[in-house]
Amino acid sequence: MRPAVHPLTRQSHRGVCQITVMPRSGSLLLALALAASLALVVDARLTSEEVALWNTHTFGYLQSGTPTGKVVTFGAGAAAVKAYVATPPGGKPQAAVILFTDIFGWDLPNIRLWADRLAKAGFLAVVPDFFRGDKLTGQDFMGFLARQPEARVLKDFETVRAAVKKAYPGVKAFGQQGFCWGGYYTAKLSTPAEPRVAAAVGYHASLLAPADIDAITGPVMIQQADPALDTQINATFYAYIEKAFQAKRAKGGEAFITYYKDQPHGFALRGDGATPETLKAANNAFNAGLQFLKKRLLPPATAAATAAKAPKAAAAAVKPAGAAEFFGSPAAAAALGRASGAGAVAP
Ligand SMILES: *[C@@H]1O[C@H](CO)[C@@H](O)[C@H](O)[C@H]1NC(C)=O
Repeated sequence: MRPAVHPLTRQSHRGVCQITVMPRSGSLLLALALAASLALVVDARLTSEEVALWNTHTFGYLQSGTPTGKVVTFGAGAAAVKAYVATPPGGKPQAAVILFTDIFGWDLPNIRLWADRLAKAGFLAVVPDFFRGDKLTGQDFMGFLARQPEARVLKDFETVRAAVKKAYPGVKAFGQQGFCWGGYYTAKLSTPAEPRVAAAVGYHASLLAPADIDAITGPVMIQQADPALDTQINATFYAYIEKAFQAKRAKGGEAFITYYKDQPHGFALRGDGATPETLKAANNAFNAGLQFLKKRLLPPATAAATAAKAPKAAAAAVKPAGAAEFFGSPAAAAALGRASGAGAVAP
């Protein structure tokens, strides 16, 4: 049984954040209007309703960088799956990470920029369109999720994995990262049953039940929002997972969970980059997941050789991103922060 809550319960409680500043002078009004106009999302792929929801940060914060990967089709005929692919410097990846997106899907800039960062660090990063062209409309989360059956998603994963193996013969190991909706599949791919991956990392995972946790053998790492702020894994459930993972580790398993205090659901991918605490937490979460996968997917000699050949890329892997790198231009990041009002919380 899946819990009868959708992955964004919290944001629906919060609703649209409000600007409480009351401008008194014309110039302040002008400055605020300018900040607001800089913050406006202009994205042809989004409907006007979606644009409005992003502009009010109902869904979190849309990043404004430009992804540098490419879109390809894996598999053929009815099995064909589109995917965004980011390749590492040198173009000869030895390991691939398949990213399972949040409910906002594979064409959100945020997930593609995340994939670009994984690629810079040495992985082939693949973001399949597991929703097969379907898009969330408005806030009909449950209706949307009902149209994404698990059997189809897992079959598409197999299609993508097989096609990547063929296209990149150097890829010897597969890892997974899952965000919110995709975090459920972090657990699914971490059991002895097929399909599975060599290591998986979940970020503010959604839709998990205790039985999913029990079934995990790992290696797995879960990077969570503050359980006090995330209804998907609340304090009770978090404690359950912690205990279950402890028991797995006592038997030699590799299962880890940690959380970021005061960070809400979605922070690592859709957090407010103009808030230093959120930026720091998102960077730490990114790097924790990266190191976890590197250690298990890339042989140490390879990792060292890659670092020696491409010192810049290796440095980029551990250097925390600044607001500009992570969330777009400083002006845009600052404007996004100001327009949101102090203390606004990304879902
Ligand atoms: C916490 O989450 C669990 C599992 O989803 C649920 O059964 C329980 O009712 C939740 N507790 C609270 C206080 O919300």
